[in-house]
Formats: sequence, C-alpha cells, structure tokens
Amino acid sequence: VTNIRIDISTTPANGYDVVVEPGSLGSLGSRVPSLMSAHRYAVISDSNVAPLWGNTVVSSLERAGLAVDLVVFPAGESSKTRETWAALSDELLARGLGRDAGVLALGGGVVGDLGGFVAATFMRGLPYLQLPTTLLAMIDAAIGGKTGIDAPAGKNLVGAFHQPKAVIVDPLVLRTLPEPELRGGLAEAIKHGAIADERYLLAIENAAASLLRADADRLTDLIVPSIRIKAGFVAADTQETGARAALNFGHTIGHAIERAAGYRLHHGYAVAIGMMVEAAIGETVGTTAAGSADRLAAILGKFDLPVRVPPDLTVQQILDYTTVDKKARAGAVRYVLITKPGNVARGPNGEWTHEVPTEIVRSTLQRFLK
Ligand SMILES: NC(=O)c1ccc[n+]([C@@H]2O[C@H](COP(=O)([O-])OP(=O)(O)OC[C@H]3O[C@@H](n4cnc5c(N)ncnc54)[C@H](O)[C@@H]3O)[C@@H](O)[C@H]2O)c1
Ligand SMILES: [Zn+2]
Repeated sequence: VTNIRIDISTTPANGYDVVVEPGSLGSLGSRVPSLMSAHRYAVISDSNVAPLWGNTVVSSLERAGLAVDLVVFPAGESSKTRETWAALSDELLARGLGRDAGVLALGGGVVGDLGGFVAATFMRGLPYLQLPTTLLAMIDAAIGGKTGIDAPAGKNLVGAFHQPKAVIVDPLVLRTLPEPELRGGLAEAIKHGAIADERYLLAIENAAASLLRADADRLTDLIVPSIRIKAGFVAADTQETGARAALNFGHTIGHAIERAAGYRLHHGYAVAIGMMVEAAIGETVGTTAAGSADRLAAILGKFDLPVRVPPDLTVQQILDYTTVDKKARAGAVRYVLITKPGNVARGPNGEWTHEVPTEIVRSTLQRFLK
C-alpha cells in the first residue's frame, strides 16, 4: 500500500493534500470528517462512473455514519453545461442540502470541473473533495483548483477557482477505465516528463507494457511524480511567475488540432501530436536540441499515441485555430518550447513562452501532415 501525501499548499489558507493510495475510495468514510466536516454529503458523479464506483464511496461514507446523497448526470463533455449545472444545483436544493453540506466529485475531468463548479457556487461555495477516476483527472484536471463549464461560444468559458479540501486518488479505479482514455491520460504524463523530468520520461517508457495493463502499482508510480510536477508549476504560478504556462506544452497546436477535428480526437491524442509539432518547431528555431521530436515520438509510439497530423485536416485550418484564442491579445502566437525532453526553454527575460513566426509553424505542420 502506497500512501503519499503531497502538500501543494501555496498559502497556509488554501493548501491541501493529494493522497494517492490504492483502495482509498473504499476507506474514504473514515477520512472524510477530518478533511471536510459537514452535516450532509453529496456525491456528484456521471452515468458511467456512478454504477461502477458510486456504491464504493456511498457505502464507505454510510459505514462511517455519514448522511450521503448520490447525484448523477449523463456522462460526457456535452453535459459540462450551464443546464447541467442548474439541474444539479436544483437537485441539491430539492434534497434539502444547505450551507452545511459537503460535495464529493467522483469521476473524470468533466465531473471534477462541473461538480467543482456546483460546489463553488452553491450557497456561495461549499467545501468539496476531488475523487478523480480517469488518469487525466488524477494527474491534471483535479489538481490546481480550476472548475467550470463550457458555453456555446467555447469550452471552459464560465468558471471559478475553487480549491478542494483534498484530492483522493485511488489508482484501482483505473481498472475499469477504457484503454483509449488511459492512453490519452498517459499523453499528459509524458507531457509532464517532457517539461520537467527526463528520468520520469524514461521510467514511463520502460513501464509501458505494465501501464497499459493498468497495473495498479506501476500506475501509482506514474501518478505520484506527475502530480508533483503539475502541483509544482501551479504553486510556482501563485508567485506570478507565469510558470503555469509551461503546462501548455503541446497544447497550442494540440487545441487547434482538437478544434479543427471537431473534438473527434481525444484531448490526450491531440496533445501527443501537438508535442511532436512543437518540439519540431523548437528544433527549427534552434531552441530545442536536434533529435528531441524523434525521442518523443519513440516514447509516444510505445503507447500507440499518434505522432502525425490527421490527414483530413489542413495546415491552414490548424493555423487559424491557433490564433482564435489570441485575437483579443493582438499579439503573435506564443509557444512553450523545450531545450530537450525533460526541460522547458526560458526566454531571455525568463519568459515561459516564445513567439514563433507563423511561417515556421506552417512549414513544420506541413511536414507532419505528409
Ligand atoms: N480543471 C482543469 O484544470 C482541467 C485540466 C484538464 C482537463 N480538464 C477538463 O477535463 C475534461 C476531460 O476529462 P476526462 O478525460 O477525465 O473526461 P471525462 O470526465 O469525460 O471521462 C472520460 C470518460 O471515462 C468515463 N470514466 C471515468 N472514469 C472511469 C472509470 N474509472 N471507469 C470507467 N469509465 C470511466 C467517463 O464517464 C467518460 O465517459 C474536459 O472537460 C477538460 O476541459 C480540466
Ligand atoms: Zn491537456
């Protein structure tokens, strides 16, 4: 049994622990009162996760003598809306939950973002726990306190920072996660390695076979450093260094590809391609050591993650989507670049991002499309 506590406190007031422990959901009830004391608890989950793991959490809380309600919404990004937020809020009100309630968000990033936003806004804010059940949520979405929903105009446009009282990660739940979701999450772990830790990258590469088998011990070994890396950048950013931007490696191109593909592609797969293109961009401008993109391709390949741009997309489409977010800022698109896998390149004044001429982005994308 591995129980690793990671203190990512930024100020004494909003620090909290991320607990990574196989089996922690089954023993959650004994932990909850000290983490988040409340008169009643609402477990918010989605229609895939609730039948698989809802009872583990609910019965654990009941065994500890806690009053608990399970509230479920239809699984999928299409539920991350104001409508579902309103329905969940009304459901909590109808069940008589009040100011003295606590929320537990049990699920992937969609549940974490939506459930967290319900917690952030219900009665001006309830305490909550993140109980992430996808690899992506464990190492990324549940860490950092960003909650929110999508709007017709775009993803994640409405939201709030609301830090959980704790994040409880039970790697055993990954046994039921569909393999494509697991591989998508692994892309984000590889990203963490690419920006911060070469040895971690090597460890991921060497453990590929057992990770894909969802071996709980190997997954625990994977999850802990990844959370430390994300937490490190998030904590550094509270000192206004802009360090959080480093987490966007692979994402400027990755997001553009996701949008150009109409979100058919799993986010992690788009990020895998994005890391390849952004590493190659770095090689072209001379910031990134030659061979870095090939090195990343070898690692991504072990997980069958894509390393080329889908052939049905055009370079111009992708380029257009890289500028979509940035128009308001009236500047050129900036990229996170690495010096080599394992290290982010800083600009002359310590900047975390670099301006890259569009023509270089265009010609690099062209190479990944053929
Ligand atoms: N807040 C942040 O900082 C942050 C960061 C990254 C991503 N996100 C958000 O996270 C979301 C993506 O998260 P995701 O990839 O976890 O998607 P998700 O929550 O939709 O989960 C993916 C699928 O797996 C299912 N599932 C979850 N856990 C399972 C389990 N243990 N067994 C079987 N099935 C399971 C879900 O029901 C869903 O169908 C996006 O909305 C994104 O915007 C937020
Ligand atoms: Zn991402």
